[in-house]
Amino acid sequence: MILYFSSTGNCKHVAERVAEALGDRAESVLTSGDSIQLKKGEYFGIITPTYFVELPTIIREFLNRLTIEAEGDNYVFVIATYGTTPGCTGADAKKLLKSKGVTMNAAFSVKMPDNWTVWFDLSDPQKVAGQNEKAELEMDRVIERIRNKEQGNHMSLRLPYFVRFFSDIAFGFARKTKNLHLEDGCIGCGLCAERCPVKAIEMRDGKPVWVKDRCALCLGCLHHCPKFAIQYGGGATKKHGQYRNPHTKI
Ligand SMILES: Cc1cc2nc3c(=O)[nH]c(=O)nc-3n(C[C@H](O)[C@H](O)[C@H](O)COP(=O)(O)O)c2cc1C
Ligand code: SF4
Ligand code: SF4
Repeated sequence: MILYFSSTGNCKHVAERVAEALGDRAESVLTSGDSIQLKKGEYFGIITPTYFVELPTIIREFLNRLTIEAEGDNYVFVIATYGTTPGCTGADAKKLLKSKGVTMNAAFSVKMPDNWTVWFDLSDPQKVAGQNEKAELEMDRVIERIRNKEQGNHMSLRLPYFVRFFSDIAFGFARKTKNLHLEDGCIGCGLCAERCPVKAIEMRDGKPVWVKDRCALCLGCLHHCPKFAIQYGGGATKKHGQYRNPHTKI
């Protein structure tokens, strides 16, 4: 079983490619349910984005809720997609899985376009296409390593676990929904509210309103709005463009 969380499609695409290569199925943690039964020898993979050098809250909360019954001999792996560094996502996942009695056999990473467009510019389609081409080759290598059932943390540019104590503080501020705002052009389609994985947006009088103080900060509302009417922070996101992985529908 290959589980993923994906806001702009990178992890969904990786999950689909890995699942296809292993003859398995890929499913979002938003729909998978919290109870997993693994048959003898079955693969168990988690494909996650990196948020502020750690696991997104959606993946962390999912792993905390998860109950796993395993017949044994399972190969358990985590793949973090990232743009700059997968940080301590591997160590983080290993600890959470261990608390469920599951041993993580291996962790891998795949560098992909960085959808944190608060900092990163994804407005040049050619540059983004080049990043995605390179990612395909990296996925091939990761799939090969999974087939060989390699052990250990093979993430590139990873950071030690203690970094979480600092990144948690920064993430706590960044995920305040007051950082997100609506600009001109909204047509009231409601897609942002429908797609928000933590129901932080409600439509009121035909316009989106953030009804929670904090959200998962997936930037899905910003990247999927058909009018690019949702922005984050002081204006950089407008210049840096919208992003959705071209290989999958999300
Ligand atoms: C809130 C937020 C924080 C992020 N932090 C990091 C980070 O610390 N390191 C990194 O390399 N990429 C970071 N990214 C980029 C994503 O991990 C990357 O683009 C990922 O492939 C997105 O996956 P998705 O398309 O499946 O949602 C961040 C993205 C978001 C939205
Ligand atoms: S997705 Fe965009 S256009 Fe649609 S309701 Fe939300 S902000 Fe408005
Ligand atoms: S409000 Fe936007 S950024 Fe926050 S979790 Fe919902 S879709 Fe993601």
